[in-house]
Amino acid sequence: WQLIAPRDPSLPPVVFHWLPFIGSAPSYGNDPLKFFFDCREKYGDVFTFVLFGRRVTVALGPKGNNFVLGGKSVALSAEDAYTHLTTPVFGKDVVYDVPNDVFMEQKKFVKVGLSVENFRAYVGMIDEEVQQFLRRDAAFQVFQKNSTEEWSSFDVLKVLSEITILTASRTLQGKEVRDSLDKHFADLYSDLDGGFTPINFLFPNLPLESYRKRDVAHKKMSQFYQDILRKRKAGASEYEHDMMAALMNQTYRNGRPLADHEIAHIMIALLMAGQHTSSATGSWTLLHLAEKPEIAEALYREQVEHFGSGDGHFRNMEYDDIKKLPVLDSVIRETLRVHPPIHSIMRKVRDEVIVPPTLSAPSQDQSFVVPKGHFVLACPAVSQVDPRIWKNADNWDPTRWSDPEGAAAKAFTEYTDDNGEKIDYGFGLVSKGTDSPYQPFGAGRHRCIGEQFAYLQLGTIIASLVRNLELRLPGPFPAHNYHVSTGIGSVWMHC
Ligand code: HEM
Repeated sequence: WQLIAPRDPSLPPVVFHWLPFIGSAPSYGNDPLKFFFDCREKYGDVFTFVLFGRRVTVALGPKGNNFVLGGKSVALSAEDAYTHLTTPVFGKDVVYDVPNDVFMEQKKFVKVGLSVENFRAYVGMIDEEVQQFLRRDAAFQVFQKNSTEEWSSFDVLKVLSEITILTASRTLQGKEVRDSLDKHFADLYSDLDGGFTPINFLFPNLPLESYRKRDVAHKKMSQFYQDILRKRKAGASEYEHDMMAALMNQTYRNGRPLADHEIAHIMIALLMAGQHTSSATGSWTLLHLAEKPEIAEALYREQVEHFGSGDGHFRNMEYDDIKKLPVLDSVIRETLRVHPPIHSIMRKVRDEVIVPPTLSAPSQDQSFVVPKGHFVLACPAVSQVDPRIWKNADNWDPTRWSDPEGAAAKAFTEYTDDNGEKIDYGFGLVSKGTDSPYQPFGAGRHRCIGEQFAYLQLGTIIASLVRNLELRLPGPFPAHNYHVSTGIGSVWMHC
Protein backbone atom coordinates (compact mmCIF):
# COMPACT_ATOMS: atom_id res chain seq x y z
CA TRP A 1 0.00 0.00 0.00
CA GLN A 2 2.94 2.28 0.49
CA LEU A 3 3.32 2.54 -3.24
CA ILE A 4 -0.05 4.20 -3.72
CA ALA A 5 -0.54 6.10 -0.45
CA PRO A 6 -0.08 9.82 -1.06
CA ARG A 7 2.87 11.25 0.85
CA ASP A 8 2.43 14.29 3.05
CA PRO A 9 4.85 16.64 1.26
CA SER A 10 5.63 18.52 4.47
CA LEU A 11 7.25 15.37 5.94
CA PRO A 12 10.63 13.98 4.84
CA PRO A 13 10.46 11.05 2.39
CA VAL A 14 10.00 7.68 4.10
CA VAL A 15 12.40 4.87 3.20
CA PHE A 16 10.50 2.14 1.39
CA HIS A 17 9.92 -1.00 3.49
CA TRP A 18 7.68 -4.07 3.29
CA LEU A 19 7.06 -4.83 6.96
CA PRO A 20 5.10 -2.09 8.75
CA PHE A 21 6.44 -2.32 12.33
CA ILE A 22 9.90 -3.71 11.65
CA GLY A 23 10.47 -1.22 8.85
CA SER A 24 14.12 -0.83 7.80
CA ALA A 25 15.52 -2.40 10.99
CA PRO A 26 17.32 -5.29 9.20
CA SER A 27 19.13 -3.04 6.69
CA TYR A 28 20.01 -0.45 9.34
CA GLY A 29 21.11 -3.09 11.86
CA ASN A 30 23.27 -5.05 9.39
CA ASP A 31 25.22 -2.11 8.08
CA PRO A 32 24.03 1.38 9.07
CA LEU A 33 26.58 3.19 6.92
CA LYS A 34 25.70 1.28 3.76
CA PHE A 35 22.02 1.81 4.55
CA PHE A 36 22.51 5.58 4.94
CA PHE A 37 24.66 5.95 1.80
CA ASP A 38 22.08 3.94 -0.22
CA CYS A 39 19.21 6.05 1.16
CA ARG A 40 21.11 9.25 0.37
CA GLU A 41 21.29 8.16 -3.27
CA LYS A 42 17.52 7.68 -3.40
CA TYR A 43 16.12 10.35 -1.10
CA GLY A 44 18.80 12.99 -0.46
CA ASP A 45 20.36 14.02 2.84
CA VAL A 46 17.10 13.97 4.81
CA PHE A 47 14.80 10.96 5.05
CA THR A 48 12.78 9.03 7.61
CA PHE A 49 13.01 5.32 8.27
CA VAL A 50 10.92 3.04 10.46
CA LEU A 51 12.79 1.20 13.24
CA PHE A 52 10.55 -1.17 15.19
CA GLY A 53 7.65 1.28 15.19
CA ARG A 54 9.80 4.36 15.79
CA ARG A 55 10.02 7.02 13.10
CA VAL A 56 13.63 8.13 12.77
CA THR A 57 14.55 11.11 10.57
CA VAL A 58 18.16 10.99 9.44
CA ALA A 59 19.98 14.23 8.58
CA LEU A 60 23.28 13.56 6.81
CA GLY A 61 26.34 15.66 6.01
CA PRO A 62 27.92 18.50 8.01
CA LYS A 63 24.63 20.40 7.91
CA GLY A 64 22.75 17.37 9.12
CA ASN A 65 25.22 17.02 12.00
CA ASN A 66 24.62 20.67 12.77
CA PHE A 67 20.83 20.30 12.63
CA VAL A 68 20.78 17.42 15.13
CA LEU A 69 23.73 18.22 17.41
CA GLY A 70 23.30 21.98 17.37
CA GLY A 71 19.53 21.76 17.93
CA LYS A 72 17.99 23.33 21.01
CA SER A 73 17.65 20.83 23.86
CA VAL A 74 14.06 21.93 24.58
CA ALA A 75 13.09 20.66 21.11
CA LEU A 76 15.56 17.78 20.61
CA SER A 77 16.07 15.77 23.76
CA ALA A 78 18.90 13.33 24.42
CA GLU A 79 17.39 12.20 27.72
CA ASP A 80 14.08 11.26 26.07
CA ALA A 81 16.00 9.27 23.47
CA TYR A 82 18.37 7.41 25.82
CA THR A 83 17.02 7.23 29.37
CA HIS A 84 15.29 3.84 29.00
CA LEU A 85 18.66 2.37 27.98
CA THR A 86 20.96 4.22 30.35
CA THR A 87 19.04 4.64 33.63
CA PRO A 88 18.81 0.89 34.44
CA VAL A 89 22.59 0.66 33.84
CA PHE A 90 23.94 3.95 35.28
CA GLY A 91 21.25 4.38 37.97
CA LYS A 92 18.90 7.07 39.20
CA ASP A 93 19.45 10.84 39.41
CA VAL A 94 22.33 11.20 36.95
CA VAL A 95 22.99 11.80 33.23
CA TYR A 96 19.75 11.20 31.25
CA ASP A 97 17.64 10.45 34.34
CA VAL A 98 17.70 14.15 35.31
CA PRO A 99 16.67 17.33 33.47
CA ASN A 100 19.33 18.52 31.06
CA ASP A 101 20.44 21.51 33.15
CA VAL A 102 21.19 19.21 36.09
CA PHE A 103 23.22 16.88 33.87
CA MET A 104 25.15 19.86 32.52
CA GLU A 105 26.14 20.68 36.13
CA GLN A 106 27.19 17.06 36.60
CA LYS A 107 29.32 17.28 33.43
CA LYS A 108 31.12 20.28 34.95
CA PHE A 109 31.84 18.26 38.12
CA VAL A 110 33.37 15.50 36.01
CA LYS A 111 35.56 18.03 34.18
CA VAL A 112 37.14 18.93 37.53
CA GLY A 113 38.31 15.31 37.80
CA LEU A 114 39.66 15.35 34.24
CA SER A 115 42.35 17.87 35.19
CA VAL A 116 45.86 18.20 33.75
CA GLU A 117 47.20 17.52 37.24
CA ASN A 118 45.41 14.17 37.29
CA PHE A 119 46.46 13.40 33.71
CA ARG A 120 50.11 13.93 34.65
CA ALA A 121 49.76 11.20 37.25
CA TYR A 122 48.00 8.83 34.84
CA VAL A 123 50.59 8.34 32.05
CA GLY A 124 53.01 6.36 34.22
CA MET A 125 50.17 4.30 35.71
CA ILE A 126 48.81 3.35 32.27
CA ASP A 127 52.27 2.41 30.97
CA GLU A 128 52.86 0.28 34.07
CA GLU A 129 49.52 -1.53 33.68
CA VAL A 130 50.33 -2.35 30.04
CA GLN A 131 53.78 -3.68 30.96
CA GLN A 132 52.32 -5.81 33.74
CA PHE A 133 49.66 -7.13 31.38
CA LEU A 134 52.27 -8.16 28.80
CA ARG A 135 54.24 -10.00 31.50
CA ARG A 136 51.11 -11.74 32.83
CA ASP A 137 49.07 -12.66 29.75
CA ALA A 138 49.75 -16.13 28.34
CA ALA A 139 49.88 -15.04 24.67
CA PHE A 140 52.64 -12.52 25.40
CA GLN A 141 54.68 -14.89 27.57
CA VAL A 142 55.32 -17.08 24.51
CA PHE A 143 56.51 -13.97 22.72
CA GLN A 144 58.84 -12.93 25.50
CA LYS A 145 60.46 -16.33 25.74
CA ASN A 146 61.20 -16.33 22.01
CA SER A 147 62.63 -12.91 21.59
CA THR A 148 63.06 -12.82 17.82
CA GLU A 149 62.41 -16.20 16.26
CA GLU A 150 58.80 -17.02 16.88
CA TRP A 151 55.57 -15.13 16.24
CA SER A 152 52.70 -15.46 18.64
CA SER A 153 49.10 -14.41 18.19
CA PHE A 154 46.44 -12.73 20.27
CA ASP A 155 42.77 -11.81 20.05
CA VAL A 156 43.02 -8.08 19.58
CA LEU A 157 39.61 -7.09 20.95
CA LYS A 158 39.92 -9.29 24.03
CA VAL A 159 43.37 -7.90 24.85
CA LEU A 160 42.38 -4.27 24.27
CA SER A 161 39.18 -4.68 26.33
CA GLU A 162 41.23 -5.99 29.25
CA ILE A 163 43.90 -3.32 28.95
CA THR A 164 41.24 -0.60 28.68
CA ILE A 165 39.41 -1.58 31.85
CA LEU A 166 42.68 -2.15 33.74
CA THR A 167 44.01 1.29 32.83
CA ALA A 168 40.70 3.15 33.32
CA SER A 169 40.23 1.61 36.75
CA ARG A 170 43.82 2.25 37.82
CA THR A 171 43.48 5.95 36.90
CA LEU A 172 40.00 7.55 36.77
CA GLN A 173 38.12 4.92 38.70
CA GLY A 174 40.53 4.68 41.59
CA LYS A 175 42.65 2.24 43.55
CA GLU A 176 39.78 0.36 45.19
CA VAL A 177 38.17 -0.39 41.82
CA ARG A 178 41.49 -1.55 40.34
CA ASP A 179 42.12 -3.80 43.34
CA SER A 180 38.67 -5.39 42.97
CA LEU A 181 39.00 -5.97 39.24
CA ASP A 182 40.61 -9.36 39.64
CA LYS A 183 37.82 -10.34 42.05
CA HIS A 184 34.10 -9.66 41.74
CA PHE A 185 34.14 -6.31 39.92
CA ALA A 186 34.88 -7.82 36.48
CA ASP A 187 31.79 -10.08 36.71
CA LEU A 188 29.58 -7.20 37.78
CA TYR A 189 30.88 -5.14 34.87
CA SER A 190 30.22 -7.98 32.45
CA ASP A 191 26.58 -8.42 33.62
CA LEU A 192 25.98 -4.70 33.49
CA ASP A 193 27.48 -4.51 30.02
CA GLY A 194 25.12 -7.29 28.89
CA GLY A 195 22.31 -4.82 29.54
CA PHE A 196 23.86 -2.02 27.51
CA THR A 197 23.20 -3.20 23.96
CA PRO A 198 21.07 -2.15 20.95
CA ILE A 199 18.43 -4.72 22.04
CA ASN A 200 18.08 -2.89 25.36
CA PHE A 201 17.65 0.36 23.45
CA LEU A 202 14.97 -1.06 21.16
CA PHE A 203 13.11 -3.26 23.67
CA PRO A 204 13.55 -1.88 27.18
CA ASN A 205 11.06 -4.20 28.88
CA LEU A 206 11.71 -7.74 27.69
CA PRO A 207 11.58 -10.46 30.37
CA LEU A 208 15.10 -11.67 29.56
CA GLU A 209 17.64 -13.20 31.94
CA SER A 210 20.20 -10.60 30.82
CA TYR A 211 17.88 -7.83 32.06
CA ARG A 212 17.59 -9.48 35.48
CA LYS A 213 21.37 -9.87 35.66
CA ARG A 214 21.80 -6.22 34.64
CA ASP A 215 19.50 -5.06 37.46
CA VAL A 216 21.25 -7.20 40.09
CA ALA A 217 24.67 -6.05 38.87
CA HIS A 218 23.62 -2.40 38.93
CA LYS A 219 22.49 -2.65 42.58
CA LYS A 220 25.70 -4.36 43.65
CA MET A 221 27.94 -1.99 41.74
CA SER A 222 26.15 1.09 43.07
CA GLN A 223 26.60 -0.31 46.60
CA PHE A 224 30.25 -1.08 45.90
CA TYR A 225 31.04 2.56 45.01
CA GLN A 226 28.98 3.89 47.92
CA ASP A 227 30.90 1.63 50.33
CA ILE A 228 34.17 3.07 48.99
CA LEU A 229 32.85 6.59 49.54
CA ARG A 230 31.86 5.77 53.13
CA LYS A 231 35.30 4.32 53.85
CA ARG A 232 37.04 7.30 52.29
CA LYS A 233 34.94 9.71 54.34
CA ALA A 234 35.80 7.76 57.47
CA GLY A 235 39.45 8.19 56.55
CA ALA A 236 39.97 4.46 56.16
CA SER A 237 41.62 4.58 52.75
CA GLU A 238 44.02 6.82 50.89
CA TYR A 239 43.22 8.39 47.56
CA GLU A 240 44.20 11.41 45.56
CA HIS A 241 44.13 11.64 41.77
CA ASP A 242 40.91 9.88 40.85
CA MET A 243 37.42 10.92 39.80
CA MET A 244 35.69 9.92 43.05
CA ALA A 245 38.02 12.25 44.98
CA ALA A 246 37.08 15.11 42.63
CA LEU A 247 33.33 14.42 42.81
CA MET A 248 33.28 14.23 46.62
CA ASN A 249 34.10 17.97 46.72
CA GLN A 250 31.46 19.20 44.29
CA THR A 251 28.27 21.09 45.09
CA TYR A 252 25.35 22.05 42.87
CA ARG A 253 24.59 25.74 42.25
CA ASN A 254 21.98 25.60 45.02
CA GLY A 255 24.67 24.57 47.51
CA ARG A 256 23.72 20.88 47.78
CA PRO A 257 26.72 18.50 47.68
CA LEU A 258 26.59 15.52 45.35
CA ALA A 259 24.94 12.60 47.15
CA ASP A 260 26.86 9.32 47.45
CA HIS A 261 24.46 7.48 45.15
CA GLU A 262 24.87 10.23 42.53
CA ILE A 263 28.67 9.92 42.68
CA ALA A 264 28.36 6.13 42.42
CA HIS A 265 26.10 6.41 39.38
CA ILE A 266 28.30 8.99 37.64
CA MET A 267 31.25 6.61 38.16
CA ILE A 268 29.27 3.77 36.52
CA ALA A 269 28.29 6.08 33.64
CA LEU A 270 31.94 7.03 33.03
CA LEU A 271 33.02 3.41 33.15
CA MET A 272 30.44 2.40 30.57
CA ALA A 273 30.97 5.48 28.36
CA GLY A 274 34.73 4.92 28.05
CA GLN A 275 35.06 1.16 27.86
CA HIS A 276 33.75 0.08 24.45
CA THR A 277 34.62 3.34 22.75
CA SER A 278 38.29 3.18 23.75
CA SER A 279 38.76 -0.58 23.44
CA ALA A 280 37.23 -0.58 19.93
CA THR A 281 39.39 2.37 18.87
CA GLY A 282 42.52 0.73 20.27
CA SER A 283 41.68 -2.53 18.50
CA TRP A 284 41.14 -0.90 15.09
CA THR A 285 44.37 1.04 15.56
CA LEU A 286 46.39 -2.13 16.17
CA LEU A 287 44.72 -3.85 13.20
CA HIS A 288 45.73 -0.99 10.91
CA LEU A 289 49.27 -0.92 12.31
CA ALA A 290 49.51 -4.65 11.65
CA GLU A 291 48.26 -4.13 8.12
CA LYS A 292 50.62 -1.19 7.43
CA PRO A 293 53.92 -1.97 9.20
CA GLU A 294 55.47 1.16 7.68
CA ILE A 295 53.17 3.31 9.88
CA ALA A 296 53.98 1.15 12.91
CA GLU A 297 57.63 1.71 12.09
CA ALA A 298 57.08 5.50 11.93
CA LEU A 299 55.43 5.30 15.36
CA TYR A 300 58.33 3.30 16.72
CA ARG A 301 60.84 5.80 15.29
CA GLU A 302 58.92 8.62 16.93
CA GLN A 303 59.24 6.80 20.26
CA VAL A 304 62.98 6.26 19.76
CA GLU A 305 63.47 9.92 18.83
CA HIS A 306 61.64 11.26 21.89
CA PHE A 307 62.34 8.64 24.53
CA GLY A 308 65.23 6.48 23.30
CA SER A 309 68.21 6.32 25.61
CA GLY A 310 70.55 5.05 22.87
CA ASP A 311 71.06 1.61 24.44
CA GLY A 312 67.79 0.11 23.16
CA HIS A 313 65.83 1.30 26.18
CA PHE A 314 63.21 4.00 26.53
CA ARG A 315 62.75 6.59 29.22
CA ASN A 316 59.31 6.83 30.82
CA MET A 317 56.58 8.77 29.06
CA GLU A 318 55.22 11.95 30.62
CA TYR A 319 51.94 13.71 29.92
CA ASP A 320 53.67 16.67 28.24
CA ASP A 321 55.53 14.27 25.90
CA ILE A 322 52.40 12.45 24.83
CA LYS A 323 50.91 15.70 23.62
CA LYS A 324 53.86 16.35 21.32
CA LEU A 325 53.85 13.18 19.23
CA PRO A 326 52.32 14.01 15.82
CA VAL A 327 52.50 10.48 14.38
CA LEU A 328 50.78 8.96 17.41
CA ASP A 329 48.16 11.71 17.39
CA SER A 330 47.39 11.30 13.69
CA VAL A 331 47.16 7.51 13.98
CA ILE A 332 44.43 7.84 16.62
CA ARG A 333 42.73 10.73 14.80
CA GLU A 334 42.58 8.76 11.56
CA THR A 335 41.31 5.60 13.25
CA LEU A 336 38.49 7.62 14.79
CA ARG A 337 37.66 9.03 11.35
CA VAL A 338 37.30 5.64 9.69
CA HIS A 339 35.98 3.69 12.71
CA PRO A 340 34.08 6.06 15.02
CA PRO A 341 32.74 3.78 17.77
CA ILE A 342 29.40 5.63 17.96
CA HIS A 343 27.75 5.77 14.55
CA SER A 344 24.21 6.90 15.41
CA ILE A 345 23.52 9.89 17.63
CA MET A 346 19.82 10.27 18.40
CA ARG A 347 17.49 12.84 19.91
CA LYS A 348 13.74 12.57 20.53
CA VAL A 349 11.63 15.38 19.13
CA ARG A 350 9.80 17.15 21.98
CA ASP A 351 8.53 20.00 19.91
CA GLU A 352 7.98 19.79 16.16
CA VAL A 353 11.10 20.95 14.27
CA ILE A 354 11.60 22.33 10.78
CA VAL A 355 14.40 20.95 8.61
CA PRO A 356 15.58 23.90 6.49
CA PRO A 357 15.65 23.45 2.70
CA THR A 358 19.40 24.18 2.54
CA LEU A 359 19.97 20.89 4.26
CA SER A 360 18.13 18.72 1.75
CA ALA A 361 19.20 17.44 -1.66
CA PRO A 362 18.46 19.57 -4.76
CA SER A 363 15.27 17.60 -5.38
CA GLN A 364 14.16 18.50 -1.85
CA ASP A 365 13.85 22.25 -2.36
CA GLN A 366 11.43 22.73 0.50
CA SER A 367 11.58 22.57 4.25
CA PHE A 368 10.30 19.49 6.07
CA VAL A 369 8.57 19.14 9.39
CA VAL A 370 9.67 16.48 11.87
CA PRO A 371 6.73 15.94 14.21
CA LYS A 372 6.83 15.61 17.98
CA GLY A 373 7.43 12.04 19.12
CA HIS A 374 9.70 11.18 16.18
CA PHE A 375 13.47 10.75 16.52
CA VAL A 376 16.22 12.62 14.66
CA LEU A 377 19.53 10.94 13.96
CA ALA A 378 22.96 12.35 13.06
CA CYS A 379 25.60 10.03 11.65
CA PRO A 380 28.97 11.81 11.63
CA ALA A 381 30.38 8.43 10.56
CA VAL A 382 28.94 9.19 7.10
CA SER A 383 30.47 12.68 6.74
CA GLN A 384 33.77 11.29 8.07
CA VAL A 385 34.08 8.91 5.10
CA ASP A 386 32.14 10.89 2.52
CA PRO A 387 34.03 10.87 -0.81
CA ARG A 388 32.50 14.31 -1.55
CA ILE A 389 34.55 15.66 1.38
CA TRP A 390 37.64 13.47 1.77
CA LYS A 391 40.16 12.34 -0.75
CA ASN A 392 40.58 8.54 -0.71
CA ALA A 393 37.86 8.62 1.91
CA ASP A 394 37.93 4.91 2.81
CA ASN A 395 41.69 4.72 2.97
CA TRP A 396 43.17 4.71 6.49
CA ASP A 397 45.98 7.22 5.98
CA PRO A 398 47.26 9.00 9.11
CA THR A 399 49.54 11.20 6.99
CA ARG A 400 46.51 13.23 5.91
CA TRP A 401 46.53 14.79 9.39
CA SER A 402 50.21 15.29 10.00
CA ASP A 403 51.26 17.34 7.00
CA PRO A 404 49.18 20.50 6.51
CA GLU A 405 51.28 21.53 3.52
CA GLY A 406 51.11 18.27 1.73
CA ALA A 407 49.00 15.22 2.24
CA ALA A 408 46.61 16.77 4.71
CA ALA A 409 45.77 19.71 2.51
CA LYS A 410 45.19 17.37 -0.39
CA ALA A 411 43.24 14.99 1.79
CA PHE A 412 40.13 17.12 1.58
CA THR A 413 38.39 17.84 -1.64
CA GLU A 414 36.09 20.78 -1.94
CA TYR A 415 32.61 19.97 -0.77
CA THR A 416 29.87 21.17 -3.04
CA ASP A 417 26.76 21.74 -1.02
CA ASP A 418 23.24 21.31 -2.30
CA ASN A 419 22.96 24.85 -3.58
CA GLY A 420 26.05 24.31 -5.67
CA GLU A 421 28.04 26.41 -3.21
CA LYS A 422 31.64 25.28 -2.73
CA ILE A 423 32.82 24.81 0.81
CA ASP A 424 36.48 24.22 1.51
CA TYR A 425 36.81 21.75 4.34
CA GLY A 426 40.57 22.30 4.39
CA PHE A 427 42.74 21.02 7.20
CA GLY A 428 42.23 24.03 9.44
CA LEU A 429 38.48 23.96 9.07
CA VAL A 430 37.91 20.63 10.74
CA SER A 431 36.74 22.33 13.87
CA LYS A 432 34.95 21.16 16.96
CA GLY A 433 31.77 22.93 15.80
CA THR A 434 28.43 21.24 15.33
CA ASP A 435 28.76 21.60 11.53
CA SER A 436 32.15 19.92 11.25
CA PRO A 437 32.37 16.85 8.99
CA TYR A 438 34.67 15.25 11.61
CA GLN A 439 32.90 14.49 14.88
CA PRO A 440 33.96 11.20 16.49
CA PHE A 441 33.26 12.78 19.90
CA GLY A 442 29.96 14.37 18.88
CA ALA A 443 29.39 18.12 19.14
CA GLY A 444 27.25 20.69 20.89
CA ARG A 445 25.99 20.50 24.46
CA HIS A 446 26.22 16.68 24.56
CA ARG A 447 29.78 16.59 23.25
CA CYS A 448 31.93 13.92 24.86
CA ILE A 449 33.77 14.98 27.99
CA GLY A 450 36.16 12.05 27.80
CA GLU A 451 38.09 13.08 24.66
CA GLN A 452 41.32 14.19 26.38
CA PHE A 453 41.29 11.20 28.68
CA ALA A 454 40.63 8.85 25.74
CA TYR A 455 43.57 10.34 23.76
CA LEU A 456 45.81 10.06 26.79
CA GLN A 457 44.76 6.48 27.53
CA LEU A 458 44.89 5.29 23.91
CA GLY A 459 48.11 7.17 23.19
CA THR A 460 49.93 5.67 26.15
CA ILE A 461 48.61 2.16 25.48
CA ILE A 462 49.56 2.23 21.80
CA ALA A 463 53.00 3.75 22.45
CA SER A 464 53.62 1.16 25.13
CA LEU A 465 52.61 -1.71 22.81
CA VAL A 466 54.56 -0.37 19.82
CA ARG A 467 57.71 -0.20 21.97
CA ASN A 468 57.35 -3.90 22.74
CA LEU A 469 55.66 -5.60 19.80
CA GLU A 470 55.96 -5.92 16.07
CA LEU A 471 52.58 -6.55 14.51
CA ARG A 472 51.38 -8.33 11.37
CA LEU A 473 47.93 -9.24 10.14
CA PRO A 474 47.70 -12.94 9.27
CA GLY A 475 44.56 -12.67 7.10
CA PRO A 476 42.49 -10.08 5.29
CA PHE A 477 41.57 -6.89 7.12
CA PRO A 478 38.30 -7.52 9.00
CA ALA A 479 35.11 -5.74 7.96
CA HIS A 480 32.95 -3.89 10.46
CA ASN A 481 30.60 -6.23 12.25
CA TYR A 482 27.67 -4.19 13.54
CA HIS A 483 26.15 -7.15 15.38
CA VAL A 484 28.69 -6.83 18.18
CA SER A 485 28.69 -3.67 20.22
CA THR A 486 32.19 -2.60 19.21
CA GLY A 487 31.74 -3.28 15.51
CA ILE A 488 34.66 -5.73 15.46
CA GLY A 489 34.42 -9.46 15.09
CA SER A 490 36.90 -11.85 16.59
CA VAL A 491 40.30 -11.33 15.02
CA TRP A 492 43.75 -12.78 15.54
CA MET A 493 47.08 -11.15 14.99
CA HIS A 494 50.73 -12.07 15.15
CA CYS A 495 52.88 -10.20 17.53
C1 HEM B 1 29.29 11.44 24.89
C2 HEM B 1 32.35 9.39 21.73
C3 HEM B 1 35.29 8.14 25.41
C4 HEM B 1 32.21 10.12 28.55
C5 HEM B 1 29.88 11.01 23.73
C6 HEM B 1 29.34 11.25 22.40
C7 HEM B 1 30.19 10.66 21.52
C8 HEM B 1 31.27 10.07 22.28
C9 HEM B 1 30.04 10.60 20.01
C10 HEM B 1 28.08 12.06 22.06
C11 HEM B 1 26.80 11.28 22.28
C12 HEM B 1 25.57 12.11 21.96
O1 HEM B 1 25.67 13.28 21.56
O2 HEM B 1 24.47 11.56 22.11
C13 HEM B 1 33.41 8.88 22.46
C14 HEM B 1 34.56 8.24 21.89
C15 HEM B 1 35.39 7.88 22.93
C16 HEM B 1 34.75 8.31 24.15
C17 HEM B 1 34.80 8.02 20.41
C18 HEM B 1 36.73 7.19 22.93
C19 HEM B 1 37.47 6.94 21.88
C20 HEM B 1 34.72 8.59 26.57
C21 HEM B 1 35.33 8.48 27.88
C22 HEM B 1 34.45 9.03 28.77
C23 HEM B 1 33.30 9.50 28.01
C24 HEM B 1 36.69 7.86 28.17
C25 HEM B 1 34.58 9.20 30.27
C26 HEM B 1 35.70 9.35 30.90
C27 HEM B 1 31.14 10.60 27.83
C28 HEM B 1 29.94 11.15 28.44
C29 HEM B 1 29.09 11.53 27.38
C30 HEM B 1 29.80 11.20 26.15
C31 HEM B 1 29.66 11.30 29.94
C32 HEM B 1 27.70 12.08 27.49
C33 HEM B 1 27.66 13.56 27.18
C34 HEM B 1 26.27 14.12 27.08
O3 HEM B 1 25.27 13.47 26.73
O4 HEM B 1 26.17 15.32 27.36
N1 HEM B 1 31.06 10.31 23.62
N2 HEM B 1 33.55 8.90 23.83
N3 HEM B 1 33.51 9.21 26.69
N4 HEM B 1 31.01 10.63 26.46
FE1 HEM B 1 32.32 9.87 25.15
